[in-house]
Amino acid sequence: MKPYVYITRKLPEEIIKPLQQKYEVNMWEHEDIPVPKDILLLEAKKADALLTVLSDSIDERILTAGKNLKVVANLAVGFDNIDLKAASRGGIAVCNTPDVLTDTTADLTFGLLMATARRIVEAAEFVKEGKWESWSPLLLAGQDIHHKTIGIVGMGNIGETVAKRATGFDMNILYHNRSRKPEVEQRLGLAYASFDELVKKSDFIVCLTPLTAETKNMFTREVFKKMKKSAIFINASRGPVVDEQALYEALVAGEIVGAGLDVFEKEPINAGHPLLKLTNVVALPHIGSSSIETRVAMMQLCIDNIEAIIAGKEPKTLVNKDWMPLVKA
Ligand code: DGY
Repeated sequence: MKPYVYITRKLPEEIIKPLQQKYEVNMWEHEDIPVPKDILLLEAKKADALLTVLSDSIDERILTAGKNLKVVANLAVGFDNIDLKAASRGGIAVCNTPDVLTDTTADLTFGLLMATARRIVEAAEFVKEGKWESWSPLLLAGQDIHHKTIGIVGMGNIGETVAKRATGFDMNILYHNRSRKPEVEQRLGLAYASFDELVKKSDFIVCLTPLTAETKNMFTREVFKKMKKSAIFINASRGPVVDEQALYEALVAGEIVGAGLDVFEKEPINAGHPLLKLTNVVALPHIGSSSIETRVAMMQLCIDNIEAIIAGKEPKTLVNKDWMPLVKA
């Protein structure tokens, strides 16, 4: 019997064709509707491999149901949607898609910073809505980016690549991370700061830290209160790192100038959400890594990892380093 691979979201035919020659492949037929939990559970029971997306909750129930399950390949660098401990206990390898998305996600993050600072979305809508009546001295005047201080929270590969972008804008660069990165500090001219210091000194606070028990809700009302009144907050990591109500209150109270958000506490965010009513919020639908080239590379990496595990080889990008394969059917 061929190994069974279940893919939780519709992917392009040409991507999965090579898989279909070797394995039995089944795919959820929708591109933009998540697979219901009960179907995912049934599929996990049969599957040797799951190719998942970040909105699928791959919890203990799914993982223990997967009696033959050997690998979960998640189409994201983040893996907070997967219970890693349960996966390791079940001998299931968890793989993600780092590296291939680093530059693309850094581009989007810096683009979001620029859009928020220079009010690009608001200005574009202003023109399209026919509101432009004359040139005026302070029309849609935003904040400068060049020579300002950017504070990057989370100095992983994406953080480092955003810092590299910031050097091109002659920015003063602070960062906060669990561990210091002396080599990166030297190469890119970054200064390490405590979280408190970074929050107080930065003109742009850019959140790129993964979601963990420690980082959940790290941006509270107290934290926003410490920021400069002219500060702009950018989040391109995971929504739950921020207390969204606190962010809303800080924006309304004028404690910060604006926010650029690619991620939200609950995704997709409801169109009626109060944050979306604010003109100083630029909101994107979690598209950090979404260029065609990068998304295709991410899909390919998931497939490479699935193929490796099924063939009994080392996967390219294993997340649960304590994983030990169990003998399964
Ligand atoms: C990831 O890969 O974790 C990103 O959030 C996707 O854009």
